[in-house]
Amino acid sequence: MNAQTTIALVTGANKGIGYEIAAGLGALGWSVGVGARDQERREAAAEKLRAAGLDVFGVPLDVTDDDSVAAAARLIEDRAGRLDVLVNNAAVTGGMPQMPTTVDLAVLRRAIETNVIGVIRVTNAMLPLLRGSASPRIVNMSSGVGSLTRQTTPGAETGPVSAAYSPSKTFLNAVTIQYAKELGDTNILINAANPGYVATDLNNFRGFRTPEQGAAIAIRLATLPDDGPTGGFFEDDGVVPW
Ligand SMILES: NC(=O)c1ccc[n+]([C@@H]2O[C@H](COP(=O)([O-])OP(=O)(O)OC[C@H]3O[C@@H](n4cnc5c(N)ncnc54)[C@H](OP(=O)(O)O)[C@@H]3O)[C@@H](O)[C@H]2O)c1
Repeated sequence: MNAQTTIALVTGANKGIGYEIAAGLGALGWSVGVGARDQERREAAAEKLRAAGLDVFGVPLDVTDDDSVAAAARLIEDRAGRLDVLVNNAAVTGGMPQMPTTVDLAVLRRAIETNVIGVIRVTNAMLPLLRGSASPRIVNMSSGVGSLTRQTTPGAETGPVSAAYSPSKTFLNAVTIQYAKELGDTNILINAANPGYVATDLNNFRGFRTPEQGAAIAIRLATLPDDGPTGGFFEDDGVVPW
């Protein structure tokens, strides 16, 4: 491993926006860990990225599983000895429908376990490796539907009523702020990203943006300069209101 090569890990990188984030970071000449829980899907994605000339490696990773996440950190430690960029992209809706008055609590738990606790689990496991980087960056893939301001702005498009998915992204935004506060005296920059409404499995391909367009904001936040922002929430057009 060339000491100059930037090392990144993208969770949920086997498809959708995560795949395109991995492709975009790989195109920068970085060495990118394709984090994915399913062996076949992970290897197929890594193979496709490699065929495009990119330097990628598969990382078995289920963000809801302590052992899996610990093993992923060991894999990166053994391979590179440090991590420069972590993109917490993996997420689930939890299952539909999720009206607050009738929501199945298992749906709620699934969304929080993956979209919030999973991010904390992965981030904390990777932090010792990130601390070994000269310019560590963490990007948390959030969503515009997590914006309380947009949720309460008449006419703003924030998707269907959601007791699990949208609040899980609001929770993730809040956690991002807390990390930024705790890590404020380090060189780690951590921000949340809104990719917009993207056609992926998550929404049965109803989104109107391409996964590549959705990946752009995460790539921008992954490549922030050392004096870039931390503890913020961004989309292509700029700051997203909390
Ligand atoms: N699509 C949109 O319009 C939109 C809008 C706003 C925000 N986002 C956010 O963008 C991110 C990517 O979503 P997407 O639209 O690309 O969805 P997607 O196509 O459904 O991809 C989700 C990825 O997360 C992975 N994943 C789910 N649970 C996991 C777990 N426990 N451990 C590891 N990986 C897991 C999936 O792996 P499997 O293939 O194994 O299921 C898949 O690779 C998510 O954070 C999502 O909330 C999407």
